[in-house]
Amino acid sequence: MGLLFGICIYLLFGSTLAVDRGNFKTCDQSAFCKRQRAMKPGQSPYRALLDTLELSDSRLTLQLINDNNKVHLLLELYRLQGNITRVKINELKPLKPRYEVPDVLVGDPSTQPLSVLSKDDNGMVLSLGAESQRLIVSARPFRLDIMEGPELLLSLNSRGLLAFEHLRLRKDTQADPEGAEVKENTDGEEQQDEEKKEEDGGKDNEDGLWEETFKSHTDSKPNGPTSISLDFSLPGVEHVYGIPEHADSLKLKTTDAGDPYRLYNLDVFQYELYNPMALYGSVPVMLAHNAQRTMGIFWLNAAETWVDISSNTAGKTVFGKMLDFVQGSSETPQTDVRWISESGIIDVFIMLGPKPSDVFTQYASLTGTQAFPPQAALAYHQCRWNYNDQDDVKAVDQGFDEHDIPYDFIWLDIEHTDGKRYFTWDPHKFSQPKEMLQNIMDKRRKMVTIVDPHIKIDSGYKIHNEISAKNFYVKNKDGRDYEGWCWPGNAGYPDFTNPEMRAWWASMFAYDQYEGTLENLYTWNDMNEPSVFNGPEVSMYKDAVHGNWEHRDVHNLYGFYVQMATAEGLVQRSGGTERPFVLTRSVFAGSQRFGAVWTGDNAAEWDHLKISIPMCLSLSLVGLSFCGADVGGFFKNPSTELLVRWYQTGAYQPFFRAHAHLDTTRREPWLFGPENTALMRDVVRQRYALLPYWYQQFYHAYKSGQPVMRPLWVEYPKDAATFTIDDEFLIGRDLLVHPVTEEGARGVTAYLPGTDEVWYDVHTFQKHSGAQNLYIPVTMSSIPVFQRGGSIIPRKVRVRRSSACMENDPYTLYVALSPEGIAEGELYIDDGHTFDFQTKKQFIHRSLTFAHNSLTSRNLCPECKFFTKSWIEKVFILGAKKPNKVVLQTDGQATAVEFEFDASLALLTLRKPGMNAGADWTVLLQ
Ligand code: GLC
Repeated sequence: MGLLFGICIYLLFGSTLAVDRGNFKTCDQSAFCKRQRAMKPGQSPYRALLDTLELSDSRLTLQLINDNNKVHLLLELYRLQGNITRVKINELKPLKPRYEVPDVLVGDPSTQPLSVLSKDDNGMVLSLGAESQRLIVSARPFRLDIMEGPELLLSLNSRGLLAFEHLRLRKDTQADPEGAEVKENTDGEEQQDEEKKEEDGGKDNEDGLWEETFKSHTDSKPNGPTSISLDFSLPGVEHVYGIPEHADSLKLKTTDAGDPYRLYNLDVFQYELYNPMALYGSVPVMLAHNAQRTMGIFWLNAAETWVDISSNTAGKTVFGKMLDFVQGSSETPQTDVRWISESGIIDVFIMLGPKPSDVFTQYASLTGTQAFPPQAALAYHQCRWNYNDQDDVKAVDQGFDEHDIPYDFIWLDIEHTDGKRYFTWDPHKFSQPKEMLQNIMDKRRKMVTIVDPHIKIDSGYKIHNEISAKNFYVKNKDGRDYEGWCWPGNAGYPDFTNPEMRAWWASMFAYDQYEGTLENLYTWNDMNEPSVFNGPEVSMYKDAVHGNWEHRDVHNLYGFYVQMATAEGLVQRSGGTERPFVLTRSVFAGSQRFGAVWTGDNAAEWDHLKISIPMCLSLSLVGLSFCGADVGGFFKNPSTELLVRWYQTGAYQPFFRAHAHLDTTRREPWLFGPENTALMRDVVRQRYALLPYWYQQFYHAYKSGQPVMRPLWVEYPKDAATFTIDDEFLIGRDLLVHPVTEEGARGVTAYLPGTDEVWYDVHTFQKHSGAQNLYIPVTMSSIPVFQRGGSIIPRKVRVRRSSACMENDPYTLYVALSPEGIAEGELYIDDGHTFDFQTKKQFIHRSLTFAHNSLTSRNLCPECKFFTKSWIEKVFILGAKKPNKVVLQTDGQATAVEFEFDASLALLTLRKPGMNAGADWTVLLQ
């Protein structure tokens, strides 16, 4: 495919959008997936050799043998702090090392003692310490079962699908292709060789063992077959979630009738909805949930991976299940899951919950928490491919002021560069970048430029010359620099798996390296799957080489490393003081530590608006809280109605950015007539007013790993009615959002959860009881949002042109009383952009409680130091009774507070109580 042709294909889009499925492999076209999937359950050849058991304090090892080929595996078991069990399986003596994923875990997980409770010829029972949990190791066939008391929580290899393709020599050459020395493998080595010959069957390359061709691309497989697989059974589980990124429903579907879910980071042009095809990111984490327990499986492997899901209740209607129950024929529901990866080892973390919040804590203890973003990054972002030049930027910036719409970031896509050479500016269109950035800074606004990881091969380009001189490019299988086509034409791909390369890349963001930049410039990493227009499946050859490893081994980590190095660069350029903001398209487990993610090239279609909810929820469940979708849809032109609805939805999702394809018509929010401008203005302003709450949620995500955007079941884990809901969501615990995502909608039905809850409509203050489906009539201005009774939410309602301009503005507290007449919330305040909150404890963190008719602010961090000019200008108490008098106590003084009471809404409004947001105070309703 010629470059021009490739780019044209990329640019071209017509009225119907559909992925070209032929560009991407199905399981059947992926040799290892096909081989593995052909295995039948119930015939496991693996046996545990119990006499090889070794137990140190916290590490248990045991050999497994494959009775068909006599290859020995080494099983390692660890009990980790916080109710996590780690299971590792590798070859006992591989011909050469197999890849183990580095840098994703935040440290060596702390282990806890393991002990053997009993052992006989059939197996053994280990104590897992906490809560009467035991691990049963069965010897023949090998199988693991995790029990809690009498209850079986999860089994491994219970269906016998453990498979480990050992490294071997190619039969027809008998030479080690990598020149590795052949070591004595096991006592049964001779036998193994015999078996190996049998396996290879004299047929050089049947089943794509040593070479595989897809379309015009041939993958030489110097190491032959290396894939691995393991099955997990989850008794009592009917709902599994996670393993993003897929454009699919929140609840994962069974895959028996089609392909497994695929995890292989790919640039899928015009992706289709509701299918298990791979997308830009891969987070190999699945959550399993029922009304009693939530668990997680984290499969730490960065190679191409497929996940099969089956269930014994799939396809049964509620009626069918009832009938089974009445007839006594119901079996325990069970979900079976099977993971298949192309290379590497089995390294799996089983997070045993039991609560959803425990699983989030457990996963965060392994891979870290969400980076705490600069506050401005939670505000509104204006992007398109492309703002044409400096004047265009100026005009758009002014447009926002003229139409009184706040915004914080304006974005420049690839056209701002000098010929797609990142870290440069087009000398004609962006000749004065510093002046442009300064103008934006004067308005207390910021900018993002795109920096992609493909580097134009051009001897006049400094970045290329340095990477090339330092030998930092990914190599071809023959050892030369790998080259592929992307936006700049012929490009090299820096080896981001190399820490020296990453350090050098980070240093390129220094102000004296990336010329024309100022401190209000942040970064967008795109095409980091990596995208290669002329490569297999629009990506890199799997036999390309990163140091000692094949691309095959590290593929899903490439984007993770690009964002890691970029975020590090932004921190370094500030001397370590400023929080970075980096948006990425490709992610892996742990990417949450480096910034935000978006769902890539969606389309201006209603279904794409809808799917933004489950797509971001799935990412949130596996740690990536800072998620958004292109507002308006990337491809095609949205109808005005769709655009407005998208603003309304996006304003209540974590990353809120409008973006559009180069060929779409301009769509700044004032181009659709005053009425629609007003609708968009209104919802952007709602976002700004709510920034204190968003910021607080991100602070918690950073501290504890709890997601910001949550499926309802996370907060109402026993309520089965919530388990499949993915057209509404919670922000933190306290705000429930049911966006309008249907064309021409006149009403929506929102589920308000919680038998003991009440919910207040944030626009009308009307109260509704929980555990009901509520029909809400809507107009074009409606965005149904409810505040949970029992919560206190801070807002800043004097919206200005950017979030920074609102820094010292006063707060309004929305106190929504529970049926018991109580409420609680928080106030978190810091400088909004530095690490001082972390390094110098410079922040304010207060708890707000309403009980016994008094509202109190208490200091949660007495040792913290931070001063705010902000004060409390108004308090709304929803669900209140009329007091005779309201008194404010602060600083030992008592003063009367003016109030109003609206009996029809049970709404008490306190006007100008006037206390400082950082002070101790109590308001008494008497
Ligand atoms: C990719 C990105 C898109 C961007 C375009 C040009 O398609 O997903 O957001 O506008 O490249 O850089």
